[in-house]
Amino acid sequence: PPLPAFDYTVFGGTGDLALRKLLPALYLRDRAGQVAAGSRIIAVSRSALDPAEYRAKADAAVRRHVAADELDEELIARFLERLDYVSVDATSSEGWSDLAGRFEGRGDGPVRIFYLATSPSLFGPICDRLKGAGLVTPAARVVLEKPIGRDLDSARAINAQVGAVFAESQIYRIDHYLGKETVQNLLALRFANSLFEPLWNANHIDHVQITVAETVGVEGRGDYYDHSGALRDMVQNHLLQLVCLVGMESPVSLAQEAVRDEKLKVLRSLKPMGVEDVGACTVRGQYRAGAVTGGAVPAYADEPGIPAGSGTETFVALKLEIANWRWAGVPFYLRTGKRLPAKMSEIVIQFRPIPHSIFPQSAGELQANRLIVRLQPDESIRLHLMAKEPGPGGMRLRQAPLNLSFAETFGSRFPDAYERLLMDVVRGNPTLFMRRDEVEAAWAWAETILEGWKSRRDQPKPYISGTWGPSQAIALIERDGRTWHEDE
Ligand code: BG6
Repeated sequence: PPLPAFDYTVFGGTGDLALRKLLPALYLRDRAGQVAAGSRIIAVSRSALDPAEYRAKADAAVRRHVAADELDEELIARFLERLDYVSVDATSSEGWSDLAGRFEGRGDGPVRIFYLATSPSLFGPICDRLKGAGLVTPAARVVLEKPIGRDLDSARAINAQVGAVFAESQIYRIDHYLGKETVQNLLALRFANSLFEPLWNANHIDHVQITVAETVGVEGRGDYYDHSGALRDMVQNHLLQLVCLVGMESPVSLAQEAVRDEKLKVLRSLKPMGVEDVGACTVRGQYRAGAVTGGAVPAYADEPGIPAGSGTETFVALKLEIANWRWAGVPFYLRTGKRLPAKMSEIVIQFRPIPHSIFPQSAGELQANRLIVRLQPDESIRLHLMAKEPGPGGMRLRQAPLNLSFAETFGSRFPDAYERLLMDVVRGNPTLFMRRDEVEAAWAWAETILEGWKSRRDQPKPYISGTWGPSQAIALIERDGRTWHEDE
């Protein structure tokens, strides 16, 4: 059934995110019948376009980024009708009265949402001008794209500026990883089954691995990316959110504050890294030329928009610890990077070995249980168990998986994370969004690493595109007698 009608105003409306993710997601929700009649999408950016020109852009974007079997001429036409465009300059007074004009007579009817898909440096100024233009009603909502700032101070400043215009309950800080089906499934896995939770602690878990690998490079976002790097772009937000969902205690309910309170405790328990830990427990990398999935690709330094001699990392591997009773002594190994051999995200829970073996050596090596949550692609949960190989020749053991494939089991299309999250804003449900204190706690920890790198003058280690990062990332885990999980 449709949700309440909305007016989604998207700042950064001509940008990569809007065209690649937001418009396709809104189209798909419209196609699913969730968009009420009278809903509008008002794209805003500095470019001097008229609404018809913008609709042509949106038309092309939807056709390009939505699967062919979900394109439907009538639905596309209806969707484009909902689109409007206003040219507004976030840093001057230009265009704001035009934007305000679009809301005349709309009153308190449709849910009013401002989506800021711009550089975070514009979040404060845009909020101020929204207020100045009289557009901020008590029920209005604002969505902030990551990254919120580039360190703790800038994040605090942005949160304060936005917080001067919108109440915390009106602010939706998006981390699209929280909208991914398998990420939400972590909650089901842990708290809708009795099997895992009793074992989910340092007594039974040896370590945890989280890998978020991408094949793409910086993709024309060189200017943004070079000021950011993998730690700010991926670890501070997406990977830490995954750490939270794996590491948190059972929330008292699924209510928004309950889940966010538990995530916050994990973030606050992250052991800060001193300069020495940064040297021993983190590895930065930067890709060189190579080949990814068969195609030759240039070095990071030769990508458009990257200054010569850039010291930005495109890969991070690190070992962190959650200093609390549940996790004391259990390392979490994280790695993420661009231009790796495959696009693949997964969480590996490695259980401890059995305490005593009754099997003869000839039975083969006993491998400890391993639970693998594959977030993308081919969403699945696999539990690796030891089993007896069939046959009359005595006891031979082998590891074999119990495999829950989401595509096979549920068969349906998985909505993109943005589809879920954009509609959660319309519904007024912020559970899967980051609260101010979460963002700041995540920065407080990430900053200890940024500072360590700075004071060590750490330069990223080179890795060839199409490999799993610098050899130091492999050494990071092998030094501890463990290995990164590889698909058999
Ligand atoms: C974004 C990062 O937040 O996440 C990008 O800015 C990255 O650099 C992207 O490519 C990865 O998201 P996904 O959904 O493709 O895993």
